Amino acid sequence: QNVPMSEAGGILARTGYSGLVVVDDDDNVVGVITRREIDKALNHDLGHAPVRGYMIRNPETVSEDTSLGEIQNVIIDRRSGFLPVIFDNKPKGVVTRKDVLGALHRTAHRPGEMTGNSALKESEEFGKDLLTKLPPTQFGILALAGEVADSMGVTCYLVGGIVRDLVLGHGNVDIDLLIEGDGIGFAHNLAETLEGEIIENPRFRTAKIILSDGEHIDVATAREEFYIRPGALPEVEAAGIRDDLVRRDFTINTLAIQLNSRNWGRLIDHFGGVADIKVGLIRVMHTFSFVDDPTRILRALRFAARFGFELETQTAELLRRALSEGRLDDVSPERVREEILASLNEDEPWKILSHICETGIFGILHHGIQPPLCLANVDDPVSEALEWMKGIAPGHEMPGKDLSYFAFIMSLSDPVEVKVFAIKYHFDNTIMEIAEALSHLPIARESLRLEKQTPSELAMKLDPLPTPLLTVLAAETASGSKERETLGEYIGKLKQVRPEIDGTDFIKEGYEPGPSFRKALETVRRAKLDGKISTREEEIAVARAILDSHSPE
Ligand code: CTP
Repeated sequence: QNVPMSEAGGILARTGYSGLVVVDDDDNVVGVITRREIDKALNHDLGHAPVRGYMIRNPETVSEDTSLGEIQNVIIDRRSGFLPVIFDNKPKGVVTRKDVLGALHRTAHRPGEMTGNSALKESEEFGKDLLTKLPPTQFGILALAGEVADSMGVTCYLVGGIVRDLVLGHGNVDIDLLIEGDGIGFAHNLAETLEGEIIENPRFRTAKIILSDGEHIDVATAREEFYIRPGALPEVEAAGIRDDLVRRDFTINTLAIQLNSRNWGRLIDHFGGVADIKVGLIRVMHTFSFVDDPTRILRALRFAARFGFELETQTAELLRRALSEGRLDDVSPERVREEILASLNEDEPWKILSHICETGIFGILHHGIQPPLCLANVDDPVSEALEWMKGIAPGHEMPGKDLSYFAFIMSLSDPVEVKVFAIKYHFDNTIMEIAEALSHLPIARESLRLEKQTPSELAMKLDPLPTPLLTVLAAETASGSKERETLGEYIGKLKQVRPEIDGTDFIKEGYEPGPSFRKALETVRRAKLDGKISTREEEIAVARAILDSHSPE
């Protein structure tokens, strides 16, 4: 296990083996390493790293007595394609996927011995059941997709998040199709059948079909070299989609359901995705997943929080290592930003943000951002605050949920650092506005505690805050407290007080537009807030006094 990856690669090159069994100093099997991990290590300049860091830990193993049927189940139905044969935890040999396929070819004329057929039937029933859980419109689209695929002689699968969510029993109507064959041609035919528009991306051989109701269907092409040869055994046939799925992030995202009429409902689960969904585990597909694409660090936390899943032990270890090695620095600012926004847009952002804070990711993204508290131990204060705000000012502009959570987390850090963070990750103006206004928070907080102040004094201190920062104030104050009451007075009443007049009235009165207009309107608002004036005529009179005192004559 202490051998460098490059040396393990040398052994594979010399012997032509597809993988190696890794042992500890006492010759106990501790993992396996395959060509895949080694190639990736070399690509990432990690040839010097010891094998133990990137080997597959706790591999599936078999004994010398394990039957072909059992091995087939392990090797074909689950993740592993390289199985150590052990006795007393000492290595005795290996069985590979190729060995099993070879053995199956040899026994194919004795169907009674093959567990594959009955497994296939079972997976078909399960997949069919899942499809029936879809709303009728989606079900109809998939049936049509299958017919179009049949007519073109291509294989069509429903893949990814929608299949995962069907197994979970969660709603999801984002249809992702994967085609073995001419994906773009298929997308054109399906778009014609559904009378939709099509947007092609020939470089990636993908297409998006936009339907008349605004819904869309994504179509991707499995790579040509994996095209199915008619008449091949199912396991070999599945190689096309298999190689597409194997590149994905987590086992739970590698499920697919075939839609062609001959195999309608056949569930493809090569990597134990259903089993991981059932036990609630986020498991990477290989030990380099986070190195290949470090945004998966954030995706892993997002999925874990969304589904209440745990990170599988080695996945958690790999995630921590990727973070400590600074892998997130390799990601473009835009991709980091999109991942953060995706987290904020989840149903329960607090859960995800607490995972992100726990792992110290904000501090890694930018050293100055480090929310000081362990959010996981605190009840979500933002959702209560948002609910309260909805009740206090019904029908008025409400802060976005995503922005409110962002503002709360950022309010725990130094406003100057937050601005640097927002610029570094190219956040848009709404977020920049929040970052800019954070420095007003201390004065605003203070104003909620003041015993004696006029309504206009309170409003002047709270007006500079964009609405997400009002949520922050609400989240910071206890429900029913004096501060909360004062904030409620501002949000529900004072914030809505506006002069009836505006700049056009001043122009009509013969004044030249300029900075004094703003000053006049502010003064009118203040007088109105404090109940000194109430009619339009009174507003004009107050404005005139200001405008006259500023006029050039
Ligand atoms: N994917 C990946 N690595 C990433 C992003 C995506 O491997 N960095 C893969 C995932 O396996 C995923 C598929 O691409 O299933 C589509 O990605 P996306 O639409 O982001 O994910 P969904 O699984 O559909 O999740 P969601 O429910 O959040 O839309």
